[in-house]
Amino acid sequence: MSVVTIQAERQYEVHIDVEFKEALKSISKHREKIAFIFSENMRDQINDLKVGDAESFYFPVADSEAAKSTKTLLQLWDWLGAAGFTRSDLIVGIGGGAITDLAGFAAATWLRGIDWVAVPTTVAGMVDAAVGGKTGINSEYGKNLIGAFHSPQSVIIDLDWLSTLTDRDFAAGLAEVVKCGFIKDVEIINLLKGKSLKEIRQDRVLTTNLIERSIKVKGAVVSSDFKESFEREILNYGHTFGHAVEIDAKYSLRHGECVA
Ligand code: GLY
Repeated sequence: MSVVTIQAERQYEVHIDVEFKEALKSISKHREKIAFIFSENMRDQINDLKVGDAESFYFPVADSEAAKSTKTLLQLWDWLGAAGFTRSDLIVGIGGGAITDLAGFAAATWLRGIDWVAVPTTVAGMVDAAVGGKTGINSEYGKNLIGAFHSPQSVIIDLDWLSTLTDRDFAAGLAEVVKCGFIKDVEIINLLKGKSLKEIRQDRVLTTNLIERSIKVKGAVVSSDFKESFEREILNYGHTFGHAVEIDAKYSLRHGECVA
């Protein structure tokens, strides 16, 4: 287990290689209500999830980019209102980058900002989307055009989620890992060189190392330029073009595939 500390509008920690239910328990002490926002494909894993004494609310949403719409956000606001969520309650986003982007934005906008925790379940979510406090949804006019900087209280990385990913999703997420290698940490490229996807997936030590190194790259950049005034733009390496490809493909390709 390791911890990467991020300095954004306030300090928070990314906990790497922890059991997410255990980690959530200690993070969510003294909360009365917790809203779990997750992909409807994960109903079986999440539907009975209970953390400590808090009352649980389950908000399944469409998967992938379909989640990042005004329609889904309106639905979430209604759910939060009906459940009586106050500023002392907590939102937990569990899923890929689209889900944590959406959950974070719901948290940023409900009551002008309530606490949230990110539990990314994909490689791209772990090394990129869930870290750094960018939250948001898409607009007809482009990806991530509606959003807010609203850092989570914590990011919980449980590597057991990785076994739930298809090879395609795992490989797509590695694009963000390779990106971190190109922009800041060449050792990432050395670690990946000559390895097949199968070899990488089977090697937990290597996978953990790659994810940790990538989070350290992202954490350092975000800590020096949270609001993207100068250095943070480097994290968009491959993304300006990648977003255009995503839109042209009507989001039928994975984000990482488009970045790659
Ligand atoms: N995904 C790019 C950033 O967080 O700035």
